[in-house]
Parts: sequence; structure tokens; C-alpha cells
Amino acid sequence: MTAPHPLQPLGQDEMAAACTAVLASGGCGERPAIAYACLAEPPKAQVLAWQAGGGPLPRRAALVVVVDQATGMTHEAAVAMDGDAATVLTCEARPGLHAPLVFPEFETAQNVVNDPLVKAALARRGVTDLSTVYVEPWPAGNFDRPYDGTGRRVGHCVFYLQEKPTDQPWARPIQGLVAVADRDTNEVVELIDERANTPIPGHDGRFDPEGLQAGGLTLRDDIKLLHITQPEGPSFTLDGTELAWQKWRVRLSLHPIEGLVLHQLTYDGRSVLYRGAMAEMVVPYGDPQGQHYWRHVFDEGEVGMGRAANSLVLGCDCLGEIAYLSTPLALPAGTAAVVPNTVCIHEEDVNALWRHHDRNTGTTHSRRNRRLAISFWATLGNYDYGYFWYLYQDGSIEIEVKLTGIVLMSAIAEGHVPSPHEAVISPSHAAPNHQHFFSFRLDLDVDGPANRVSEVDVVADPLGPDNPHGVAFRAVPTLVSSEADGRRRSDAAAGRTWLVSNEASRNALGQAAAYQVVPGPSPLLLAHPQSAAAKRAAFATEHLWVSAYDDAETRAAGFYPNQHPGGAGLPEYLAANRPLVDTDVVLWVTVGVNHVSRPEEFPIMPVERTGFHLRPVSFFDRNPALDVPPQDHIVGQNDTGHCH
Ligand code: CO
Repeated sequence: MTAPHPLQPLGQDEMAAACTAVLASGGCGERPAIAYACLAEPPKAQVLAWQAGGGPLPRRAALVVVVDQATGMTHEAAVAMDGDAATVLTCEARPGLHAPLVFPEFETAQNVVNDPLVKAALARRGVTDLSTVYVEPWPAGNFDRPYDGTGRRVGHCVFYLQEKPTDQPWARPIQGLVAVADRDTNEVVELIDERANTPIPGHDGRFDPEGLQAGGLTLRDDIKLLHITQPEGPSFTLDGTELAWQKWRVRLSLHPIEGLVLHQLTYDGRSVLYRGAMAEMVVPYGDPQGQHYWRHVFDEGEVGMGRAANSLVLGCDCLGEIAYLSTPLALPAGTAAVVPNTVCIHEEDVNALWRHHDRNTGTTHSRRNRRLAISFWATLGNYDYGYFWYLYQDGSIEIEVKLTGIVLMSAIAEGHVPSPHEAVISPSHAAPNHQHFFSFRLDLDVDGPANRVSEVDVVADPLGPDNPHGVAFRAVPTLVSSEADGRRRSDAAAGRTWLVSNEASRNALGQAAAYQVVPGPSPLLLAHPQSAAAKRAAFATEHLWVSAYDDAETRAAGFYPNQHPGGAGLPEYLAANRPLVDTDVVLWVTVGVNHVSRPEEFPIMPVERTGFHLRPVSFFDRNPALDVPPQDHIVGQNDTGHCH
């Protein structure tokens, strides 16, 4: 058997072996529950040295994160892997830090309804049948409360009514009641109890066809079939987790916390990106009422994006010729299950790549734009997030996040006067204002690791002898020379982009090979700098952060944001003020949306999008997509007109 590539994700057997070895070592406390397990990615220098033939194959190892449910202590184990043989190298407690929620905590949170204070508060709201109460655990955040920072594992619990299995609990919030509970003992350490006389909405929140029709809705009947077929199959090949499509090559993995990771992305054999993944996300709420003010969930570091990945359905989630990856998932007791069809890979036609109509000859030269879409969907409570990476034939890359699912809602009484911090979206619901931010960590290696970053604004020249007509403008690059300058904001009016260039790699025109980040429109964090949200989610206060490469610096809000007081991650990384010129740099791009909700988002929200582009600049000598053939040259294509 040939040894796996150093970046090949753990297989199911390896994952189970690693978890079993960790639990058998007895080093993770009395009542250990596996939070997650994944490949411990070897140091980048080792991988590059091995690939260049100058170093040994890096040792294969697993990272296993465990929570001792007897004490709440998080443990971190490194496990050497040799085939399916696992040897625990280290197993260390991480006092003061907290792993993401473990699956048993979702189940035991339900028991909070038996607390006498919670029971009484529910009764005041007319709820006495506790079996109809759905409890949703939320991360605790960190608000300097007596129990914050004590090492105790705590979390918020919010309450919904679910009388029938078909009820969407999210539409039936039990208003004003929030319990902060010990995750291990379920002891309630704080109770928020206000607005007890707000009626619980009667709306069942259903959006399944039967439910909608029962509610009097008629489904459209004027939609004809739309099939996407590729009779000769797709134009990509997938070998394990190694994907090849035209001139692109990439290795994929679905990390339990980060979600989809692109490793070693190359174009025509040239390095573009060593590693790209979401490095954190946060959803800060802007409604000061007790039910909401504490909400700023880090769905990655506090919950786990890859662990929340859906099993996708052909024809529903993905249309056309699809290849899937399936993902092993570590379970609390140390086994590993496989979640089938998590990552969806397919080609899409997206209209024009390039075209021109010649008025003199009457001819048109036109090329279809085809992209490779690599995506997955994750569901976290009421919300669904789709993460899409697109590779294009012109060497460009797009990252898009799709937001949908059920908007978080407050119950409102008839005649409710909305506060400025919410939007009324149904007769019995208001949605609190909130934001969604996603931080993408891009370890761009443009023709190799030694890169520099410039901020490029396009600015008008002053009037003068060189600009007598007042029309001149120019692109002005400003070098980001060290981490002290590493926090940047976008400026749409200046057409601001960020250029990542390799001065040692020149195209035929003598220009440095580069990729540019083209930011999308994106707000910044609105929470006050003194707020818990701002301290903990500093990454959302800037559109771009640039840091020097470090293997250990992978998360925008630190490795363990759960219950963390803040300051970890990017602020800590950049405090070193390392130089950033012609060295290995990492870009952290923040994108996001303000979510002031609309009635059109009830009872389920149409997809909203955010994202950004990466484009080659002087990476090529001319249009790299000239070699894309006209449609009627593509073998098997016999139903099109003459395209050239
Ligand atoms: Co939203």
C-alpha cells in the first residue's frame, strides 16, 4: 500500500482508531466525549520539502479534541497514525479553553426544562406540558459574569414550543426566557425572564408542500422540466480527494470545524493557494432585549461547520453531473460514522466567457463560461449556510456564501410597536436585526510562498500641466509592509483591491505575477468596541487582515473561541508586527451582510449571498482562456449553432 498524501484527510477507520486510542489512554478525564477528530496537518515547510524531493514524508498524525463531561475540561490529543494503528503521542488538558459544543450537550440541554425556576417561568407563559418544549443550546459567549472564566462549561438555552412533530419550533418562540446552564450538570446559573405575557405564536411555521397546501397555498403548475445533462460525463476527474479540472488541480477536505478546505490549488502546474478555508464566522445580534443581546454565535469555532454538513441529495441540492465526497465524522463515544455526499462537485454553465460580434463580417466569436463549483451546506439551528468555491477558465476564483433557512424570531403580541432593533415579518413575529460575518483565511502562494501585498486604489490626478483636461487617473499601489499595517478596509469608491504578488516571478511583459482580492460589498461589525461581541470577534472589524505565515495560526478568533473573553486570533497574531514583504503571507478576508429582515423571509428565507473574487493580474501574458474552444468544437456537441 502506498502511503497517503500528507494532506489526505483521515479515513473512517483511521478516525475511529485515533479516537479509540485517545479514550483508551485514560488521559481525558472521567467522562470523556469526543468533540472532533481530524488530520493534524503537517507543517507546511515539511510538505513543501517532501514534494520538492528534499525531505522525508511527513509523519501522519491525528488531532483529537475531547471534553471531559465530569469536569468540563477540554483535552487535546496528538495521535501518530500508521495505517489504522494509532499511538497517542500527547494528551493535554487545556484549562480555561473550551472545545466547541459536543453532541451530548445538545441532548442534555433538553433537561433544563426540569429546573424549578424554568418550569415556573414556562408555566407563567401557559406551558405546562414539558414534552412540547424544544430547548436549543447556544454558546455562552463571555460577559464577565460570575461564572465566566471559571473553567466551568456553560451555555445558553432558549425555548420553543413544538406541539406537533411537523411544527417548526423556530416559528413558536417562548418569548423572554433564556437559561444559562452548566453544560455538564444542567444546573441553571442564570435565568433571563422578561415579557412573560407575550403570547406564543400559533403559526406552525411549516413550509413543506403538505403544510403549505393545508394552509391554503396553491403550488405553481407552470414549471416545465429543466435537465442538466453531460452525456459524456463531467470534464473533471476526482481521485480520492484530489480534483483535476482543465488546468486546475486541488486537494479537498471537509474539516469538522472549518468546513471545506482547498489545499494546494494550482493552475497549469503553478501554485496559487496553499490552503484556503473559512477561519471563523460570527452572527452578532443588534437587539438589546434579554432574549437576544448575548447572541453572537461563532458557528465555526463554537459549534463546528464541517460537523454540521448536510448529506446532499442529487437533483434537489445539486443539479447535473455531480461527484460527491463523503466525510467521516467522529462520534462522542469514539466511533466514526460516514456522512455521505457532503461535498458537491460539478460544472456549471454561467453564460459568456468572452465574445465579440464583428459588424463588418457579421461573424461572432463567442465562448461559453464554464466554472467548477465545489460546495457544501451546513445547518446550524435555524440557519443554513452554503459555501461555494468556483474555479473559472480564466484563472479566476470566486468564494460565495449563501444564507438561507429560518430567520431567528421574536414572538410579538397583536398591536406590537416594533423597536428600531427589529423588523415585523408576520402578524405574530419580529426578527431582531443582526449581521453575518465570514472570515476566509487564504494562504496564497502565488508562484511560491514569497509574496507581498499591496493595497491598490484608483485615484484621480490633480489638474496640472500633465493633466490639463482633468481626466487623468491612475492605480496607486501602497505596500503593506508589516503587520502594523496589516488591518485594511475596503473602499468601493476608490475601486480598492489588494494585490498579492511574487516579485521573483515575471510574465513575458516583465511584470510581477499576482492575484488580486476583489472584495464584495460588506459591512463591518456594528457592536461597540467595548461589547463582548467586538472583543471576541475582532476579525469582523476589518475587511482584510494580513499576517505572516505560521502553521499554528489558522483561526480568526483563536483556536477555542467558545466562552473565550476575546483578544485571541487575528489581534494576537498581528501584535507580533512581523515583516510582510517577499515572505510567506496569509490574507484573511472578512465578508458579510447586515440582516434587517423582511416579510419576504417568512416563514423561510430566500437565499442571500455574500462573497468575493480572486483574479490573476500579470500572472499570464494574455487572456489565459483563448484556448477554450468554441462550443461546436467540443466533442459530442451537435446541437448548437456555428459559434465562430
Ligand atoms: Co440572518
